[in-house]
Amino acid sequence: MSDPAIELNCVTLKLGARRVLDSVSFVINKGEFIGVLGPNGAGKTTLMRMLLGLSPLARGRIRIFKKPVTPGNTAIGYMPQVRNTSIARHLSARDFIACAIDGNRWGITLSRRKKRKTVDDVLAIVGALSLADRPFVELSGGERQRLLLAQCLLGQPELLLLDEPLISLDLKHQACVVELVKRVQRKLGITVLFSAHELNPLLHVIDRVLYLGNGLAELGTVDEVITPQVLSRLYSGAPIDVIRLAGRIFVMFGGVEIEKCPHLHDYTCGYNDQHRIGS
Ligand SMILES: Nc1ncnc2c1ncn2[C@@H]1O[C@H](COP(=O)(O)OP(=O)(O)OP(=O)(O)O)[C@@H](O)[C@H]1O
Ligand SMILES: [Mg+2]
Repeated sequence: MSDPAIELNCVTLKLGARRVLDSVSFVINKGEFIGVLGPNGAGKTTLMRMLLGLSPLARGRIRIFKKPVTPGNTAIGYMPQVRNTSIARHLSARDFIACAIDGNRWGITLSRRKKRKTVDDVLAIVGALSLADRPFVELSGGERQRLLLAQCLLGQPELLLLDEPLISLDLKHQACVVELVKRVQRKLGITVLFSAHELNPLLHVIDRVLYLGNGLAELGTVDEVITPQVLSRLYSGAPIDVIRLAGRIFVMFGGVEIEKCPHLHDYTCGYNDQHRIGS
């Protein structure tokens, strides 16, 4: 029988007037690589913050590795969507990662030797030892993502929450980051939630997809979730087409690819209301 990593049972989460999750239930198993998708504002970031104990529930129950959610859970490594790397501009890559060791999260100070070994261990896992002495400011976007991933691995987490690690990377660097996360996940046998705006860069690495929208969450294989019926529900009843071409999948609304057009996200999210108003 599979071993649960994350269990949500009838979870409702409200932010202000918005019901971001409305009685959502699913189980993610240990060792799964989950692609988290959904339009802007669907709740991808909120879901991750909720698992970190930073967004309280209105209703329902969450268990992570069979325990209740607690803030500061060292079993979780988190790469936030908004990353403040300005502090790192004058640091070497090694010092940038070392900064996180003395943060509040661990609450202990390691000896210099131990700290260096800890940092070098995570740098080795992400294949970035050669970057250790380079100034952070000189590194490319892809190389910085590599270091941010190394930082997430510091506490030897069993669950990685990566919020939009592909943001502002070109296609080549996106592919490198996806391969790297997959390699690390396999090597360490950990569970990964990887949010993104596009499904295609993740298609070949994910076990299942968690698609959020309209307060709902659908978890399943790509074939189960990426269908016009399921996606139409998540996009507030808007008519969605799914086109498969040369191993890629395109989610379309009115002949336009939905992932490429943020304004379509907004439109489809209010589809029911607008439809009612217009009819
Ligand atoms: N503190 C808050 N108070 C009220 N509403 C909030 C708050 N934080 C987020 N929201 C709203 O909750 C919804 C979910 O936001 P969230 O950031 O989780 O979406 P997302 O799926 O990560 O979007 P994106 O793709 O743009 O990153 C949005 O409508 C957002 O405006
Ligand atoms: Mg987000």
